[in-house]
Amino acid sequence: MNNDNRLDGLIRKKIDIFCCPKCTQKLSVDGESLVCQSCTQQFNTSNDIPQLFIPTDWRNSKEDVTEKIKDFYETTPFPNYDEFDDIASLRQKSRDGLFAKLLEEQIPMGYNILECGCGTGQLSNFLAVGNRSVFATDMCMNSLNLAHSFKLQNDIQNVAFVQMNLFRPCFAEGVFDLVVSNGVLHHTGNPHLGFETILKLVKPKGYIIIGLYHKYGRVLTDIRRFIFNITGDRFKILDSTVSKLTKTEAKKDAWFKDQYKNPHESKHTLMEVLQWLDNSGVTFVKSIPKTVLFEYLTEDTRLFEPEGEYDKFELRVVELGMLANPKEGGFFIVIGQKN
Ligand SMILES: C[S@@+](CC[C@H](N)C(=O)[O-])C[C@H]1O[C@@H](n2cnc3c(N)ncnc32)[C@H](O)[C@@H]1O
Repeated sequence: MNNDNRLDGLIRKKIDIFCCPKCTQKLSVDGESLVCQSCTQQFNTSNDIPQLFIPTDWRNSKEDVTEKIKDFYETTPFPNYDEFDDIASLRQKSRDGLFAKLLEEQIPMGYNILECGCGTGQLSNFLAVGNRSVFATDMCMNSLNLAHSFKLQNDIQNVAFVQMNLFRPCFAEGVFDLVVSNGVLHHTGNPHLGFETILKLVKPKGYIIIGLYHKYGRVLTDIRRFIFNITGDRFKILDSTVSKLTKTEAKKDAWFKDQYKNPHESKHTLMEVLQWLDNSGVTFVKSIPKTVLFEYLTEDTRLFEPEGEYDKFELRVVELGMLANPKEGGFFIVIGQKN
């Protein structure tokens, strides 16, 4: 047996929650591979990562950007791990970002978590503590290999990496307490369909967290992209994250390419995503920015406590405010609870 192709213990233990991404029937373990009990399709493991990626199968294939985005992230895994990253520095850095810190503190122990589009798995590696089980999925093997190496180097037990297309899930419906997809759906041809597809994997009363580029929050990035395009990428200093990142050129480069050279991105509004939740019977719990003017995320914010009704006019003002104060490349986050 090849030692680089060992199926993760967590996957063996939780094989019941997997399904065939082709025919949605049950999968079983066959040595170091997974096999569909119905269509007999075999899914091999490479560098310990089961390869359950199936291409998107849409009638309107013009919409489909999966292959284009896959090619891009296979050569530009994101986010980049610093040369000196270990679990202590990853935890420190993640806690510096208040949202990740609150998530880590407030996601109950024992939760089954799925991350769709985990990239190099920094969030999943950070959240995999105690008796939580984290399945971190992405379509790019290059990113997953980096994620898995970090897990091995730091002996992180409760996370398993799986190659999956979020439009063709390899998990049964209703098996996760929490599904997270941060910075991913806007790089797909149909973010709303992506949302509906991964929502199916959430248990009743479970949570979904979606992070997307904001229509107004992204305006300054679009202006900078235009400047970079016409100047041959001079003035990178205009991007405050590039100028703040001091550790490695590779890390700066990964951020720059992700923000300015991405082959596809769409932009959205909070109002639009709240409508998605409404249409799918999901209760709005929290958003960042909050739907209330002059209320901000703080150490005391309870992420999973419903924020309550929002005022549409106030929400519009909050959204317009993102023009002037875009955070992290013009990003917003919505948390919902499935009914
Ligand atoms: C900007 S990165 C975000 C990584 C990570 N979530 C983060 O916040 O740092 C976007 C990731 O989405 C993944 N992705 C895009 N479309 C996908 C799809 N259809 N299925 C699975 N992963 C996808 C890409 O491979 C890439 O790693």
